Amino acid sequence: MSKKLFIETLGCAMNTRDSEHMIAQLHEKEGYTTTQNIEDADLILINTCSVRERPVHKLFSELGGFNKKKKPSAKIGVCGCTASHLGEEIIKKAPYVNFVLGARNVSKISEVLHKDKAVEIDINYDESEFAFDDFRTSPYKAFINISIGCDKKCTFCIVPKTRGDEISIPDELIVNEAKRAAKNGAKEIFLLGQNVNNYGRRFSSSEHEKVNFTELLRRLSKIEGIERIRFTSPHPFHMDDEFIEEFAHNPKICKSMHMPLQSGSTKVLKDMKRGYTKEWFLNRVEKLRSVCPEVSISTDIIVAFPGESDEDFSDTIDVVNKVKFDQIFSFKYSPRPETEAEHFTNSVDDAVASERLSYLQSSHNELLDAIRVKYLGQTFRVYFEALNKDNFVSGRSDTNLVIKVKGSEELLGQFRDVKITKVGRAVLTGEIVA
Ligand code: 5AD
Ligand code: SF4
Repeated sequence: MSKKLFIETLGCAMNTRDSEHMIAQLHEKEGYTTTQNIEDADLILINTCSVRERPVHKLFSELGGFNKKKKPSAKIGVCGCTASHLGEEIIKKAPYVNFVLGARNVSKISEVLHKDKAVEIDINYDESEFAFDDFRTSPYKAFINISIGCDKKCTFCIVPKTRGDEISIPDELIVNEAKRAAKNGAKEIFLLGQNVNNYGRRFSSSEHEKVNFTELLRRLSKIEGIERIRFTSPHPFHMDDEFIEEFAHNPKICKSMHMPLQSGSTKVLKDMKRGYTKEWFLNRVEKLRSVCPEVSISTDIIVAFPGESDEDFSDTIDVVNKVKFDQIFSFKYSPRPETEAEHFTNSVDDAVASERLSYLQSSHNELLDAIRVKYLGQTFRVYFEALNKDNFVSGRSDTNLVIKVKGSEELLGQFRDVKITKVGRAVLTGEIVA
């Protein structure tokens, strides 16, 4: 009987890929297979996120629950971004935790497993060339990390403190990983990094050939079997014309762009140290739409950053109304440890913050309803990737619309043309026409 691993993954797609890397290492080196049952597990991992405040006591109460349910011999490990920032404190507060492994130390999972009370959280550790074993939750879509860490100094963001400086993974490793994924049946690859279009800024070896993100996309799009390429997140500051032209004209690149705005006010953007203005952001959207009219654009917005006035917030609403984003991920500002903004004293009243967030969300929902109703009767090419309840199978259009049809697993990993028969806010329903 193989040893069993229970793993809970919180946070972003990067964490999802880190979990896949840990599952792969634990399988190949230690003989673990995964289980959905805590009671059966010999090892319990929680891969944490710290981008917004998740009350620390929530992590500890969850750990306490794991500790009660687990087999007496089972080990517990805390991994990811909260592990990086709390480190040893986790073992002090929850002495039954066996090890703590930071977001920048994933490749050491086998090592810490055998050292009781190990804390590996060095954010300068360079695992950009580590050859992880292969494991993918889905055979149809392959997440591939293209860089680790982040060199930006956004004043609200904890990530540089949990994932360290930015290092690009050599392009030849990325291309080989994509080829292996294609061979195993993935027709879509999803490139991951904190700031993907800054790719090539720094490689582990200073001798490495200078390859930028646009060039990386060109190289990946030559791989036979890969039909769709997606990526997240690009930074508006690095959206030069060369990148936008490649995005528009390379048929393998999906026409869906995530452009994290954060705020529409140039003053707030300056306080956030984002490196662009409201005008630059609008200019990049205009350029993008001029060369790629069908593009769908999603964004992240933080409301009530310290010092955000009513006028600043109106600027955000103005950008939302002008751009008509296809999707907005919106958050109330949450002060994070070890960030510059943590020390800003001009915080916005929480009631005002809540009001702004709900105004933003409801006005965007109205815009969205008007956009989405137009999809009724239209046909999209869908790549199917998930089995849902009630005999539905779902996938995505090139422009990232989630579309479901009645069907079964034969559709998984297949492309079909689907005509939309019902429009919802999150999911469209349709019928296969070809
Ligand atoms: N408070 C609120 N939202 C944040 N984000 C990052 N840091 C914070 C913070 N301190 C949001 C940003 C980012 C997304 C991943 O999370 O919008 O783009
Ligand atoms: Fe991902 Fe950032 Fe959360 Fe870390 S803090 S898991 S990098 S979203």
